[in-house]
Amino acid sequence: MKGSTTGGDAADGPRGELNPITFRRRLMRWYRDNARALPWRDTSDPYGIWVSEIMLQQTRVAAVIEYYTEFMRRFPTLVSLALAPEADVLAAWSGLGYYRRARMLHKAAQFIMTERRGQLPSSSLELRTLPGIGEYTAAAIASIAFGESVAVVDGNVERVILRLTGRANDATAAARRFVREQAQALVPHAPVTLKPYSQSGEGSPPSGNPAGDHNQAMMELGATVCLPHAPRCSECPVHSLCCTRGEHPTPTRTPQRSQPAACLLDLRKRGPATEVLLECRPGDAAVMPAMYELPKLPQEAVEGLEPALRLRHAITNTNYYVQVYSPRRLVRSGSGSHLSVDKPSTVSAHALRSVLPTETQNLHWTRTTRLASLPLTGLTRKILQRLKVMKNTRITLAE
Ligand code: ADE
Repeated sequence: MKGSTTGGDAADGPRGELNPITFRRRLMRWYRDNARALPWRDTSDPYGIWVSEIMLQQTRVAAVIEYYTEFMRRFPTLVSLALAPEADVLAAWSGLGYYRRARMLHKAAQFIMTERRGQLPSSSLELRTLPGIGEYTAAAIASIAFGESVAVVDGNVERVILRLTGRANDATAAARRFVREQAQALVPHAPVTLKPYSQSGEGSPPSGNPAGDHNQAMMELGATVCLPHAPRCSECPVHSLCCTRGEHPTPTRTPQRSQPAACLLDLRKRGPATEVLLECRPGDAAVMPAMYELPKLPQEAVEGLEPALRLRHAITNTNYYVQVYSPRRLVRSGSGSHLSVDKPSTVSAHALRSVLPTETQNLHWTRTTRLASLPLTGLTRKILQRLKVMKNTRITLAE
């Protein structure tokens, strides 16, 4: 492996050349002792590994953990996923974002059942033929689930390789090719010899999957040590092999945009049930088609009104500053706030509903007990949970 030479440890070979054997040993020893216990690392079931890798696309590990566990409880096998209605799959994905991933996962499960007798492809080449699986995800599944010696190059791994080699990050095709080649040269084809695993020590025992473990270790190093803005070089197991030791320009972040938004949270009582007014997005909408959300209100219509809730909701590069208006009064209690259906605010339901944009269609009064099984948008779920309309509901209702 060659790179520019601002660092490097003479004992590890000529300056600028990285000895893959030394590198793998140090990386794997560190991973064995420091790997986070993540639920998908406890399984060798290719289906579970596939689900985890789809969830991890563009999403932080911390956000995926609770979704993964619940999703696997609801759809424990490929067959159960393939047989489920799409709306149930979207409901389980609600709040995780990028819903196209859930639709593709579901379609792929159906395809595998009908066309492949329930067998997930085992090579990265074949995995790429499935909906929702690109080069990076195919490499992750093929190496972690099936032991293929193919490098996984996500944003974290790219940063590790660029820092290690000192290659400028000029975002060119040549730089991407360089990173892929360097990453591939490091992937082991045979077990990496380490000191025996100590039962009393921290970390995981080796899984007997050198390539899968190596790829997970590379991602882990990028995610927990070789951080974008403040790398923890003193904790890095391959610090002495690194050309830059963190002194490497990182691309500037795309600036966040701010956008205001307003929506209506209207509740009503029907017999013993409480219902909430939801709008179903058009089936052909470019984003989040056929998902349910609170009806949007035009900004000019809510000027001067006091919202029941203000919150920030970040999607990719936009911060939405959302104000939720309700004809119900907010009741504060020790554990937060909830809307009280028997305490009308000064804003009437009629007045608020009358300002819904004319294109607002497909409105549904929906029982709050059904909310958990509906494909709600992430923002809608967040609002309904914050105001205790969903789960642990504490709405006080007058008959
Ligand atoms: N990001 C993508 N795949 C991952 C994995 N298997 N472990 C940790 N982070 C990841």
